[in-house]
This record gives sequence, C-alpha cells and structure tokens, in this order.
Amino acid sequence: MNKERGRFGSQLGVVLASAGSAVGLGNIWRFPTEVGKGGGAAFILIYLSFIFLLAMPVMLSEFIIGRSARSNAISAFQKLAPGKPWVVTGMMGVLGGFLVLSFYSVVAGWTLHYVIVSGLGQLHIQGGADFGQAFAAFVSHPWRPILYLAIFLLLTHLVVVGGIHHGIERYSKLMMPLLFVIIIVLVGFSLAMPGAAEGIRFLLRPDLSKLTPDVVLSAMGQAFFSLSVGIGCLVTYASYFSQETRLVKSAMNVCVIDTLVAVLSGFIIFPTVFSIGIAPDAGPGLVFITLPNVFALTFGQMPFLGYVFSLLFYVLLLLAALTSSISMHEICTAFISEHFSTSRRKATVIVTAICLVLGSFCSLSFGPWKDVTLLGRGFFDLFDFTVTKFLMPLGGLLMTLFVGWYLDRQLVEQQLTNNGSVPVRLMRPLLFLIRWVVPIGILAIFLNEILPLFIP
Ligand code: PFF
Repeated sequence: MNKERGRFGSQLGVVLASAGSAVGLGNIWRFPTEVGKGGGAAFILIYLSFIFLLAMPVMLSEFIIGRSARSNAISAFQKLAPGKPWVVTGMMGVLGGFLVLSFYSVVAGWTLHYVIVSGLGQLHIQGGADFGQAFAAFVSHPWRPILYLAIFLLLTHLVVVGGIHHGIERYSKLMMPLLFVIIIVLVGFSLAMPGAAEGIRFLLRPDLSKLTPDVVLSAMGQAFFSLSVGIGCLVTYASYFSQETRLVKSAMNVCVIDTLVAVLSGFIIFPTVFSIGIAPDAGPGLVFITLPNVFALTFGQMPFLGYVFSLLFYVLLLLAALTSSISMHEICTAFISEHFSTSRRKATVIVTAICLVLGSFCSLSFGPWKDVTLLGRGFFDLFDFTVTKFLMPLGGLLMTLFVGWYLDRQLVEQQLTNNGSVPVRLMRPLLFLIRWVVPIGILAIFLNEILPLFIP
C-alpha cells in the first residue's frame, strides 16, 4: 500500500498538467456552443463570474484535500476523516472519472476521425456535400466510431502508464505549448476571414434578451466542466504536488489559462462562422458540421490555407482532448493501483478496458442502440447528465463544505501558505468563498435545475 508515490517534477509541470486537464473539448467544442446559444458576450460575463467565484474555490479545495492527504480521491477522505461518511464524496469522484472518460473518449474519437479525414484532404473534396449527413452517418455507424474510440483510449493509456513525471508531466509539457501555438495561428487565420468583424461583435456585445435562468445554469455546469472540478481529478493531481507548490497561485494560473483558451476558441470559431453567414447557435454540430462547411469554402478559394486551417483545427481539438482524458484516467488508475495494491501497469489496463466497454455503450447510443434507454436517456446522454449536472456540482458542494467546515482551519491555512512561508493576501475572502458563497451558490443553482426534473 505504501509504495513510492509519483511526483510532479516542477512548478511548470504542475501548472501545465492541471491546465492540460482543464483545457479540453470543454473549451473548444462545448464553450462556443454554449456561447452561441446563450447570447454571446452575455453568457461569457456570467461564465467568467462563475469561474472565479464558484469553480476556482472548488479547485482550491481539491488542491488542499489532495496535497494534505497525498492519496487517491477515495483514500484522501478516509485519511482526513476516518470512519466518516465524507468518503462518499471520493466514491462519487471515482465513479465520475469512469463515466466522464467513457463519453468524452467518444467525442475525442470523432475528433481523431476528423483529423484523418481532413489530413487526407477528404473534407474538401466533399465541397458542396452535406456535412450534416456525413457526420450523422459516421457517428451512427455500428463499429467505426468504436474503433476510433479504442485508438484514442489507447493513446490516453500510453501516457498514463508512464506515470506522473515521465508520463503525464512530460506529455503535458510537450502538448500544451504546441496547443497554444496552434491556437494563435488559428486566431490569426480566423480574424483574416472576410466578415470576421461580425463574429467579433457577437462575442463582445452582450445580448441580454438571451439570458434565461436556464442559460445561467448551463454557465455553472460549463464552468465546472471546463475547470475539471468536482470529481476529484484535482484531488488526485494535487496529491502529486510538492510542498513548495503554491496552491492559490497555481489555481489562479489554471483559471486564467483555461478562460483564455475558451475565449480564444470563440475568436477562432465565430468570425469564421459569421464569415459564411451561418447562425452561431448551431449546437453540438458546430465543430463537426458547420466548420467543415467553412473549411470547404475556404479551400475552394485558397486551397492551401483551407487545408492547413482544417487540419490544424482538428489536431488542436485532439491534443486538447488528450491532455484532459489523461487526467480523468488518472483519477481511476490512482484509486485502483493504491486501493488494490496493484502495479500501475495493471491498474491502467483495467481502467482502459472498463472505459472501452462503457464508451462503446455511449457510442452505440448514436446508432444501433438509439432506442436503448436507461432512466429515459441513451447511454451517452445519461453519462453526460450524471457527471455534469449531478456529480460535479454535488461533489463541488461537498468538497467546499469539507474544507470550509470540517477540516481543521490550521491545516487549511498551512496548505494555503505552505506552512507560513508564502503570504496569501486574499486568505479571508478565499475562505469566505469556500465556506459560504460556493455552497450557497451551488445549492441554489443545483436545486433549481435538478428539482424540476423530478417534481414536474
Ligand atoms: N476540463 C475538461 C474540458 O474542458 O474538456 C473536461 C474534464 C477533464 C472534466 C477532467 C472532468 C475531468 F475530471
């Protein structure tokens, strides 16, 4: 049980790995979709306040729990609160880890397919073709998307099996800078599109009429999902932080990087979409249906640019998905290897195998199993709903209550100040957020969203 645990080797590694977990499909695929539906800048404003007032304090709480316990998400609660029911929070986290990796890898598999298709130039020959139909035919195919899902899970597996320092940290340090470079290049491309100004206006001018209570709820879900908080992912990562890692500074850095990438993704997608006059609220098909239309059109006018633009975009999406999926995998791998005292290699295989089976269920729910439902939902929807609408907010609530009200105040302050060696000027406001603002905020929003589902 007491095997040598992995460690992140540097502060840069900590920030890049945590930011890698945060930056993912949530930023580049989900965020623009939500912005499109939520009235552009109006949604962004609410989202930003939720990032810093709700999700960031949850992240900090996870860091505190993880670094003081130095174990996986479940044992962390057993160590800090022996014999108490708090351990349920950790169990929800590990369950969330399995579910999120399973449905996330399905979309990541689609992305891999689009990397290959655009790399082969097939996205362009189809100019004038119906990309909506091509997408629907692909995702509903009985085995093709499962093949891509399996390849993606294998890539995730290969990083995680390398361990914390030589696997996760090493690849995050490689992939994250590459990701930033691609984003900058793509923003440049996008802003040069004719008609880009309209997209920028949409992003910067709030349309308050679109702000319904439902949009407010989606903004909270999006903030939690985007920062990977609420299911013990960051408890697990923080268990590998060194004593010198500054928790508040790291959390702020991750929030700023994640938000920046989300907003820049908006700057890639909306000017592009507006330049060919498509409505911005296309929903989840935005990057798989709307964008291929744009790429094909660009290709028709400037073949080289169109080719590079599309290929880089899907490579970006794939890299972002991979740096996130490894963190989901790690929640489960850390638990299995420590709890059952198995080798990391074996634990990694077990997690990959379970997620391959669960992920296949999710994938099939777009095709042959379209009509198979559990609690009224297909597998993909059910997993997505359980994680983003239920486990994440509830986990965030429990973790802030745990840190704010149960853990010894001195321990919390020691963690935040690295045993008094770094001053934390915002200590009081941060603790106030953790003790009051987050629990009340989540509870209010959560009840608003969940109760009506059960009490019609
Ligand atoms: N934050 C990731 C994204 O925005 O794509 C998703 C995610 C990663 C959720 C890790 C949960 C998690 F544990």
